[in-house]
This record gives sequence, C-alpha cells and structure tokens, in this order.
Amino acid sequence: MSKPSPTSTGNGAPLRLGLIGFGCVGQGLYDILQKLPDVGFEVRRIAVKNPTKLRPLPADRFEFHADDLLDDPELDVLVEVIDDPNEAFRLVSRALRQGRNVVTANKAMVARHLPELIRLQREFGGTLLYEAAVCGSIPVIRTLDSYFGQEPLPSVSGIFNGSSNYVLTGMTTAGADYATVLAEAQAQGFAETDPALDMAAFDPRSKAVILAAHAYGLLLNPDQVLNLGIESISSTDIRFAAERGQKIKVVATLQRLSDGSAAVFVAPQFVGDDSPLYHVEREFNGVVVEAEFAGQHFWRGRGAGGHPTGSAVLADLVALRNGFRYAYPKLNTATVPEPAADLEVEIYLRHAPKDLREKLHLTDVVDELNAPGFSYHYVVGYARLSTLLRHRDDLRRAGTFVARTGPVRTPVGVVQQQAAAELVVE
Ligand SMILES: NC(=O)c1ccc[n+]([C@@H]2O[C@H](COP(=O)([O-])OP(=O)(O)OC[C@H]3O[C@@H](n4cnc5c(N)ncnc54)[C@H](OP(=O)(O)O)[C@@H]3O)[C@@H](O)[C@H]2O)c1
Repeated sequence: MSKPSPTSTGNGAPLRLGLIGFGCVGQGLYDILQKLPDVGFEVRRIAVKNPTKLRPLPADRFEFHADDLLDDPELDVLVEVIDDPNEAFRLVSRALRQGRNVVTANKAMVARHLPELIRLQREFGGTLLYEAAVCGSIPVIRTLDSYFGQEPLPSVSGIFNGSSNYVLTGMTTAGADYATVLAEAQAQGFAETDPALDMAAFDPRSKAVILAAHAYGLLLNPDQVLNLGIESISSTDIRFAAERGQKIKVVATLQRLSDGSAAVFVAPQFVGDDSPLYHVEREFNGVVVEAEFAGQHFWRGRGAGGHPTGSAVLADLVALRNGFRYAYPKLNTATVPEPAADLEVEIYLRHAPKDLREKLHLTDVVDELNAPGFSYHYVVGYARLSTLLRHRDDLRRAGTFVARTGPVRTPVGVVQQQAAAELVVE
C-alpha cells in the first residue's frame, strides 16, 4: 500500500476521513461537518460494529470492518471514536505502524498506552492527536504542549469528569440523593453505562495521566495513580462541607513539589469559593493551570457530549492539516520530575470500619465524631497517598467516603502551595 499523503490531498480538495465509530462523538463530528460544508473535510467511509442497529443515515453509508478503512490508501485521516479501549489500541497502533494520521477521543486507551503510541509516531512518522480525550472542548492538551511547552508549571488541577460533577451539583443545590441524581445523569446521557468509570474516578484518572505527560513529561502507569470517587457520598458529607462554606468536587491534582518530584492523584476535595472550581457546576469541566511566569489560567467548558467532543476532534483535524503534532517538549528533559515518593494528605473519612481505619494509619487527627449510638461518624486527619491507593478497593467495598480537606505534605513536614510558583517545605 502506498503511504497516504498525511495532511493534504495536494489539490485543495477536502481531506478524506475514515470514521471508526458512529456513537455520541462520531455523530457529533459528522453533524458538525454537515453544518460546516466549507471546512475542508469529507467523511468518506464509516465503520461501526453492530450490523442490526438502526442508524440516522442510509444503511449503505456503514460498513463493519474497521480494518478495511486502515487498508484504504485514499483516506487521509482516520478518526477513531469507538468505546472499546482494547480494540481502539489495536486499530490505532496498527494505523500508526502504517505511518498514518489518526485522531482519537479515547482517554482510557491513550492513558494506558501513551509510551507505545509516542514510540510508534516517532518510528513510523504518523501523527496521533487526542484533544477530545481530556475535558472535551477545553483546549488543554495543545495549550500545555505548545503554549506552556517550556514554562514550569507548579500545578495543573481541575474537574475532569462532568458526570460526577453533575451528581455533586444535584446533591448540593437540589438536595437530591445520590442514586436519584445519578439516574438523572444517565438519562441525560452524561454518565457512562458503567457508572464506576465516572463515579469511582477512573475516567478523570486517565485524563490526569495524559496531562502529566504534556505538563511535566511524566509517563505514568494509570494503576499507580490514586483515584477516589463519590460512590459512597451521602447528603451528610455535602452538609458537612456546606457548614464550612465549601463544596465537594472531584478534583484531579498534578502538583510539582519543592524537591522536584510531582504528585498526581484524583480525589473528592473540599473546595472553597476562593477557587475557580467552586463555581464549576453540572456537567461542566474546569481546568486551573498555575504557570511560573504567566500566573493562573482557568478554563471552564463542556467536557462531554456529541458537539463539544466533536468540536475538539474537528480542531485536531484542522491542526493536523496544518502540520501540527505534539512536541511532548518536557519528555526526556532534565526537568522531568520523579513521581512523588510518598506524600500525606489531610482527609475527611466517614464511615470507616475500625479495622480499615487502623490500616490507614491516620496521623494528626484534627477533628473527630465517633459517639456510640450515632450512625454518622467521621474523622479528619492525615493519610499517606500510597496507603489510600493500597486500600482504595477496601474503601469502596466498605462504603467509606473519603475527601481531601487540606494540603499535601511530605511525611516530615507540611508542604504548602504558595501563591507564586514554588512550594516550600516548612
Ligand atoms: N461521549 C462523550 O461525551 C465523550 C467525551 C470524550 C471522549 N469520549 C470518548 O470517545 C469514545 C467514543 O465515545 P462515544 O460516547 O461516542 O461512544 P458510543 O456512543 O458508545 O459509540 C461507540 C461507537 O463505537 C462503535 N464501535 C464499537 N466497537 C467498534 C468496532 N470494533 N469497530 C467499529 N466500531 C465500533 C459503536 O458501533 P455500534 O454503533 O455498531 O454500536 C458505536 O458506533 C470513547 O473512547 C469515549 O471515552 C466520549
């Protein structure tokens, strides 16, 4: 097969797309391209999985073997938007081995295989872009990779999952209970069919792993990144935060420490109204970048849905046409941080069975309610991130809710984030 022209048909004609997947994102992109006929992209072939499904386009527009699209030299770009990360990796890695250009939205696949995906691009010359994989239409990846490519970033944090934020907003503003508002999120199409991806924070963990590569040059195995979610949250927790003037948000944290290492984790967090994230509600996402010289940047936008995600895919297609590829400017440089060896974080822990609480080895307990006869008992103290990661599944099984309430610190001293660039150990 002759290698297809990467970014141009060479005669000004629209670039020919092979679209793999025609669900929420695939249809969103297709619809946008119909509304923008002069944008210069033509969906030439569409591959899906299920031959019996009813479709919004004539049946002859669809085929059922995605590999046939990879084998078609007339296609300029492959857009992979399927919901199966393993199959997505097989297709995308095969396409990159052919030196092809690919756009994907699949964060689970990118997070798990990023080192290999980078290697394949370098070895075979193709390009892979994936802006839609993190916070939908918020242009965070390209901004970190290009605009902030050389600037040290003390932290990147945010609300990276619209479904859990929708549930938290419903519980906070309408006083709804968790199950009711989760069902509502699913009915509205915000939540994944498997709610654990959103509610147990596996989805924002994938996004944090991807951003760590672009913000810090750090390639992480997702399994080594702590993710705590809101499956066990109750209205008592929401009230506890509200009485202190705070809201609970699921926050992904990427934070550079004074010793040069970086901490990356995702957890529910008590957030005050001095943080821009306090005001990010419903299905919206928010990203806060602290840059050493540029200061604080904040984006709020739609992290999911056919049109917002399709818009991010379109932006990648345009970037690809202009010859853009990620530079991964901080990878393999002297500034790549080590993953932080071990940190302690102040947490609120509700409803932990005695043996589990003992396993967490909480220190410096600052607040506690543990009266006999009360069904509500909680403790606020410090736990190690590594201990929380080791017992993450025990916490889920026990129905224990954990939220970050304060700073992270090294086990020897408190680390506080300063308004400016650096973090100091007291
Ligand atoms: N939905 C969002 O808002 C959003 C936002 C950001 C990122 N993403 C990511 O984008 C990707 C797609 O999500 P989605 O919500 O669009 O999924 P979806 O609505 O479930 O649609 C998935 C599509 O993939 C097709 N498919 C599955 N396996 C296939 C295979 N082996 N070959 C060809 N087609 C196959 C399905 O075919 P059938 O139609 O035949 O079932 C379906 O058309 C996922 O990785 C997701 O994490 C989604």
